[in-house]
Amino acid sequence: MFQIINVANRLPVTIGEQITLSTGGIVSAIEGIRKDYNMLWLGWPGELIEGHKNQQQIKQILLDKYHCTPVFLDKSEIDGFYYGFSNSTLWPLLHYRPYFIKYQTDWWQMYQQVNWKFAQAIVKIAQKNELIWIHDYHLMLLPQMLRQIKPNLKIGFFLHTPFPSYEIFRCHPQRKELLTGLLAADLVGFHTFGYLRHFRSASMRLLDIDSDTTVINTNNRKCTLGVFPIGADVQSFTNEMQTEPFRTKRAEFLKIYKDKTIVLNVERLDYSKGVMQRLEAIDKFLEKRENKDNIVFIFINIPSRERVPEYSNLRQEIESFVGRLNGKHSTVKNTPIHFIHQSVDFTELCAIYNIAKIAMVTPLIDGMNLVAKEYVACKPNFDGILILSEFAGAANELFQSLIVNPYDIQNMTQTLELALTIPPDDMKRRMKGMYERVVQFDAKYWAKSFINELSKIQITRPAAKKKINVLNALTKKIKKAKKIAFFLDYDGTLCPIQDEPDKAAPDKQLKTLLEQLGEKKNIDTYLISGRTESDLEKWFAKFKITLIAEHGFSYRKHQTGRWERFTRHIDTLWKKPVREIFQQHVATTQGSFIEEKKSSLTWHYRKADPEFGLYNARQLMQLFVEMLSNMPVEVHHGKKIVEVKSMHANKGNALMKFAGKKSKYDFVLCAGDDVTDENMFKVKDERLFKIKVGDGNVQTNAEYFIDSPKELITLLSTIIKKIP
Ligand code: UDP
Ligand code: G6P
Repeated sequence: MFQIINVANRLPVTIGEQITLSTGGIVSAIEGIRKDYNMLWLGWPGELIEGHKNQQQIKQILLDKYHCTPVFLDKSEIDGFYYGFSNSTLWPLLHYRPYFIKYQTDWWQMYQQVNWKFAQAIVKIAQKNELIWIHDYHLMLLPQMLRQIKPNLKIGFFLHTPFPSYEIFRCHPQRKELLTGLLAADLVGFHTFGYLRHFRSASMRLLDIDSDTTVINTNNRKCTLGVFPIGADVQSFTNEMQTEPFRTKRAEFLKIYKDKTIVLNVERLDYSKGVMQRLEAIDKFLEKRENKDNIVFIFINIPSRERVPEYSNLRQEIESFVGRLNGKHSTVKNTPIHFIHQSVDFTELCAIYNIAKIAMVTPLIDGMNLVAKEYVACKPNFDGILILSEFAGAANELFQSLIVNPYDIQNMTQTLELALTIPPDDMKRRMKGMYERVVQFDAKYWAKSFINELSKIQITRPAAKKKINVLNALTKKIKKAKKIAFFLDYDGTLCPIQDEPDKAAPDKQLKTLLEQLGEKKNIDTYLISGRTESDLEKWFAKFKITLIAEHGFSYRKHQTGRWERFTRHIDTLWKKPVREIFQQHVATTQGSFIEEKKSSLTWHYRKADPEFGLYNARQLMQLFVEMLSNMPVEVHHGKKIVEVKSMHANKGNALMKFAGKKSKYDFVLCAGDDVTDENMFKVKDERLFKIKVGDGNVQTNAEYFIDSPKELITLLSTIIKKIP
């Protein structure tokens, strides 16, 4: 059995004419640590070409030789899922290039289909205790799909790209589905806190869910967020630099580039990497330079996703610009730009990293950028200068590099000039600091910290036992009772929560239940709600039940039809200053509003910016703690509200007034869904049967759980048939 099932769109090897090592950050980082874990890698082996062995044979070779399980994709899946949705829709979205985004509905269908295919493939292998580690934007729906099939799997997801700001992410037609897909993971990791912050903010805004800084709560589950900056596979580079082939290659390169300063550029040919802007800066640099014989710019641009037009167009643009530059700046002795449009082998890469005096890593945006870290890892003598874009995730760590803004061409030209004249001491000091960091926080460190964090997470599941027993338990107790009271909350308990309170009118089934309850001689029913008197009267005046308004502030018996207060003299002097403060907040927090009742003032921010709303709610709470400490009020910060209410309005007190120990009732059922109902649940009395409706996973004083208002109504309808 494997310990970890590692899932990425690409396998570390690609089946072409031959089997070759795949390129990209994930492969470099995970390949280096695979031997330390018992890890199976599941992914796509690349596009099969004619004359290949059959799939079964390929499968066997991959498993035996490489510990890999292939997920084969057919042509329409490759087009729709890989080139289409993943690389023409998501990649530009995640890299802040909205004008490159293309979208087709059939690509979205293919994306779902392929994610489902991956889910099926994993389920075939996964037994129970493996960790499932999913990588990157191709598989954002996979956590949720897996969770549906195998709810108890431990699932981690790592995003290798940036996560953009909410303003960009919200443009995507499937923004909600993608977030929901990811949030089914137990742990979601990012390279930087900035990306985590964007993800959390997008989730709060688009899915209207609560979140601490690093935990998002969704339907009975927790999704933990974490920052895990990926590192380079330092060990492999260090080992390679000890080998004879490396020494030979290095000597060969030194001979070729004798007396020349090498400025190195390595990347996949991708519009996020800022190649055109860099070439422009180099052009300006060369225009000013007198001696053009002694400097060479090596570009290793690895072919990538060439069937996406933006990539093939960029390739043409780069090639023609390089041609023009070389025409303009070449001398008899030197061609300044060496453009290599193919992968180089590992030994060559090591050698070129090692001898290059300068590396220019200037993406317009990049999740991390491993090339920057690899260059540093190949500089054990600290003799090199890294020019690094502030928009690469790596800039957060490699701050001793020369940081540039790749959009500022003049800034890049000047930095290049500075790099060539930097004093050796300064160069060494900078590189030493970066080298130590890169060696310490390498790919192994990254993988270990993610895996440890994922292993540590405790999976909490709903308290199902109590839920299953509720009908039996209730039947047993209620059968013996002679006089019964039902205290039923309304919103969220007898009726699902609606976005507009006016939409929550009782439906036919509930009306029938209330009618039947009204007719039962042995049952008195109390509808106990936070709503106002007029709200309750509008819908429930005709039933033979008692209405209790504003969380126990006043009541109306159907026999009299008159509203009365539980407490006669109620001090409401606190309302004026509280109202004024709330009004100031309404002015500054767009979308927020005040609701006033006889017993309370509530500031609602569910329609405001969730983060700004939360910030202001916390400020209000701090202010009120002092300001209202001597007033007869309770202040609470609830679901998108701050509420100040008279302490006389309390559901627990109201329940005790009607159904206290000296009352006629020998059985009292109370049901509710939110924090105000906890005041009923807190009452200690063995006659009480307490049912919490909704999330079975939260702290509550109730003993029994029911999933939804619908289930509660069914339960009550069943139970009253057993009572005369
Ligand atoms: N790389 C490669 N083949 C080459 C040159 C480089 O596979 O010919 C590797 C390089 O060592 C690095 C990866 O490609 O590990 C690129 O990762 P990076 O994070 O810089 O960018 P990404 O391609 O993931 O956007
Ligand atoms: C980036 C992505 C990876 C991807 C790699 C190579 O690093 O984050 O998920 O595998 O580029 O791209 P490719 O399209 O060839 O898989």
